[in-house]
Amino acid sequence: MILNYFIFINYKMDNKQLDNKQLDNKQLDKYINKIICGDNIKIIKTLPDNCIDLVVTSPPYDDIRDYNGYKFNLDTFKSLAKELYRIMKDGGIVVWVVGDKVKNGSESGTSFKHALGFMNVGFKLHDTMIYEKNTSSFPAKRAGKRYTQIFEYMFVLCKGKIKTGNLICDKANKWAGVTNWGKNTQRDKSGVLKQTSDIKKVPDFSPRNNIWRYVVGKGFNSSDSESHEHPAIFPEKLAEDHIISWSNENDIVLDPFNGSGTTCKMAKKNNRRFIGMDISMEYCKLSDKILKKY
Ligand SMILES: C[S@@+](CC[C@H](N)C(=O)[O-])C[C@H]1O[C@@H](n2cnc3c(N)ncnc32)[C@H](O)[C@@H]1O
Repeated sequence: MILNYFIFINYKMDNKQLDNKQLDNKQLDKYINKIICGDNIKIIKTLPDNCIDLVVTSPPYDDIRDYNGYKFNLDTFKSLAKELYRIMKDGGIVVWVVGDKVKNGSESGTSFKHALGFMNVGFKLHDTMIYEKNTSSFPAKRAGKRYTQIFEYMFVLCKGKIKTGNLICDKANKWAGVTNWGKNTQRDKSGVLKQTSDIKKVPDFSPRNNIWRYVVGKGFNSSDSESHEHPAIFPEKLAEDHIISWSNENDIVLDPFNGSGTTCKMAKKNNRRFIGMDISMEYCKLSDKILKKY
């Protein structure tokens, strides 16, 4: 079944068949700007080594939601982490948005297990960033014993030395335009203090910090109302901010848990190539419908 941006890969196909069909870099073209329906590990196994610049994704975790019965456990995570490491280009980045469920009074620790699991397969933990939400469906009660859970982790993982960083500079500087009263100086060989250069003025804006805040909920996460047919989308601005930060135009951006296609949509809007994967036909069709608008 082939729609506009849509390849149907039968997820019942066994690993062996797909292993034998690993694509070379030229054949990768058939996956570019497509949504592929199937189990992401099986599909990723068909990708060549070192072919992806950036992954921006959020896995299902701790069975918080039932995606048509598809489960994602720690064993599956480990296989996926290993495959992701193989397909990332040197210096490529994986942004992994994840949180924890509270069970029997304790957070599951799944997010930490994932971060450490990525390090075990070779990734560097480049940055532990926070996605802070403006509101929660379960605000703390005065008589309660737990503060409002208001954030998820955004683990930024790198294969080797990071190759792209376009830091977003939108933190306004209080001292913009001001110059220190002093001068840059250095002693020459005879010990005399000489002026070397003028001290630069404080710029209007500097790189933002690593806690990113987004307004969430219906009407805020996405400019496409259909996106909310998916129960767990992340804000399109979050995807865009990471895409801008860690990739350049024409790079290949992958979301192996594509859902409503937020990452692919923002990759497309920012002139990147994209590949989306989702095990649910329903969500593949949803993201296909949304992507066709752009
Ligand atoms: C948290 S949602 C991602 C939502 C997405 N970030 C968005 O903004 O729409 C996780 C998605 O992973 C998909 N999924 C679960 N297991 C999968 C697997 N093994 N392979 C591919 N997709 C899977 C689910 O169907 C679900 O749509």
